[in-house]
Amino acid sequence: MDRFKFTTIAHGTHRLCSPISDGKLRDIMDVLGLSADSRVLDIACGKGEMLIRMAELYGVSGVAVDFSPAFLEEARKQASTRGVADRIEWIEGDAKEFEGQVEGFDVVSCLGARPFGAYRDTLTRMGTWAKTGGVMVVGEGYWQKPPDARYLEFLGAKAEEYSDHAGTEAVGLSLGLTPIYSTTSSQDEFDHYEGMYLAAMERYLRVNPDDPDARAMGERIRGWRDAWLRWGRETLGFGVYVFMK
Ligand SMILES: C[S@@+](CC[C@H](N)C(=O)[O-])C[C@H]1O[C@@H](n2cnc3c(N)ncnc32)[C@H](O)[C@@H]1O
Repeated sequence: MDRFKFTTIAHGTHRLCSPISDGKLRDIMDVLGLSADSRVLDIACGKGEMLIRMAELYGVSGVAVDFSPAFLEEARKQASTRGVADRIEWIEGDAKEFEGQVEGFDVVSCLGARPFGAYRDTLTRMGTWAKTGGVMVVGEGYWQKPPDARYLEFLGAKAEEYSDHAGTEAVGLSLGLTPIYSTTSSQDEFDHYEGMYLAAMERYLRVNPDDPDARAMGERIRGWRDAWLRWGRETLGFGVYVFMK
């Protein structure tokens, strides 16, 4: 199966591919000190929704990087329809290869991805692009409670790959960053995100039963749904952490 196929279909109806409502996204943007002069770098931008919103609401300009061709195509379409295409440069490629201007950005964001390995490495790398006095916005998973061993086995993860909410913020502190804001996704936000994900895939499978990948995708989405309901919903949280460099 094409590496992007499952995620492209499952995120087919999301604009922001993170469990964050429009209202919460607005709250987060409000604390970033954005203005028309701000330069923003969004790493693993998905469909570019956050940077597009920043450009619409605050007039910022910036650069967005993602390796998904389908997500970037949607991002370009949205930016053009919403009149901000001239303010955003879209870079299709692996964020690991991205050579941005060192200390060139007022805001550096990365929501829902760890393109540089562990969370700490992601923060460290983001910090190279942020200006001193600029901010970094990172969206990360955290444990709401210690994970069940069966959930870890399902995810193929180790408990120490995530921390709790306070511990996730503390990683920024340990890197010399100043935390200025944090928030977590509510159950409603997470249910909405997961529900959109499940619904988009189940609809696709109903309409495309002859897709050669239908069986594999069906098994994957239903396994994910079961694990989410059984363990994930009460175990895995999503936090957004804002640090000043
Ligand atoms: C859960 S989505 C979040 C997208 C976006 N930040 C948002 O909140 O809407 C994760 C994104 O990370 C991208 N991604 C993951 N690893 C990457 C890498 N090494 N280089 C570029 N993009 C990456 C995926 O293509 C996907 O668009």
